Amino acid sequence: MSSYNHAIGRAEQINIGRVINSGRYGTVYHATGLRHGVTKEYAVKILPMKRHDMLSDQNMYMMRNEVINMWRCRGHRNVVYLYDVYKDQDNYYLVEEYCGGDTLQSKLGHVHTEKMALQIVMDIANALNHIHDKNIVFLDVKPQNIIYSSNDSTFKVTDFGSSRRCTNGHVHHSDVTCTPLFASPEVFLQYGEISSMHDAWSLGIILFWLLTGRHPFMEFDSGINNNKVIDAITNARPPLHEVPCGVRPVVSGLLEKDPARRLPIKDVLYLLS
Ligand SMILES: Nc1ncnc2c1ncn2[C@@H]1O[C@H](COP(=O)(O)OP(=O)(O)O)[C@@H](O)[C@H]1O
Ligand SMILES: [Mg+2]
Repeated sequence: MSSYNHAIGRAEQINIGRVINSGRYGTVYHATGLRHGVTKEYAVKILPMKRHDMLSDQNMYMMRNEVINMWRCRGHRNVVYLYDVYKDQDNYYLVEEYCGGDTLQSKLGHVHTEKMALQIVMDIANALNHIHDKNIVFLDVKPQNIIYSSNDSTFKVTDFGSSRRCTNGHVHHSDVTCTPLFASPEVFLQYGEISSMHDAWSLGIILFWLLTGRHPFMEFDSGINNNKVIDAITNARPPLHEVPCGVRPVVSGLLEKDPARRLPIKDVLYLLS
C-alpha cells in the first residue's frame, strides 16, 4: 500500500498515442516516455473515475483494488509489470510494460502441439502461482487477459480488475464477476467457497482449448447461458479422449468439478516441469 501511494504521481513525461484495445472497464493506449534518459514504450490503461453504470464509491473501490493487487504482484516475469500509477480528477492511469504481441485469443482458433500448449500453460501457471502466493485470487483467467510479450518471449497475465485478496484462502461468491466461459462449477452452483482453485479450473479450460481447438463443454453454436452448457460444466465429464494421453492427468485434474479435489496450480507446475 505504501509503495502504491508512493508511485502515484511520480513525475515522468509520458506521451499517449494510439488506442491498443478497449476492455470491459478501461481503454489501453500505446505510449512512449523517457525513463532514466532512454525512450521506452509503455501501455497506459486509463480507468475513468466516473462510470454511468456504477456508484462512484463502488468504482473507486474496484479501481484501487485493481491497482493495489497488480502492484503487489509486480516483479514476476509472467505478470505484466506496473511501473507507475497516476491520478487526476477524471482518471487513474496505469503505466504498464508494453507487450508487443497478440493476446492468447489469437491462439484459440487452432489445435496446438502438446509442447506449444504446455509452454503457454506453464507461463500462465507460473503467473498464477505467484499471484496465489500473494494471497490473491485472479478470478478472470481468460485469453483476453493473457498477452504475448515480444520483449522476453513469454505470455503474461494482466488485468487485476476482477482479482480479490483472500480471507482464509477464500473470497465471497458476491465478489466473483468472471467470464462465464471460464467460470468454475462452484461459481454456477453458488455453493462452497471460491478459492485459487477457481483459477485452476479456468487454466484447465484454456489447456483443453489449446490442445483441441474447442471449449470442453460448449459447441460453438450454443450460448453459454444455455442450461445444457451450464449443466455440462457442473456435471458432465470433459471429453478427455480428445487430448493426448500424456497430458490427460493434468487436464482431468484441472477440470475436476469438486474444488477440494482439483489439481492445484503448484502441482501443475510440478507435473509439467
Ligand atoms: N501491457 C499491455 N501491452 C499491450 N497490450 C495490452 C496491455 N494491457 C492490455 N492490453 C490490451 O488491452 C486489452 C484490454 O486490457 P485489460 O487490462 O484487460 O482491460 P479491461 O479491464 O478493460 O479488460 C487487452 O485485452 C489487450 O489487448
Ligand atoms: Mg481484461
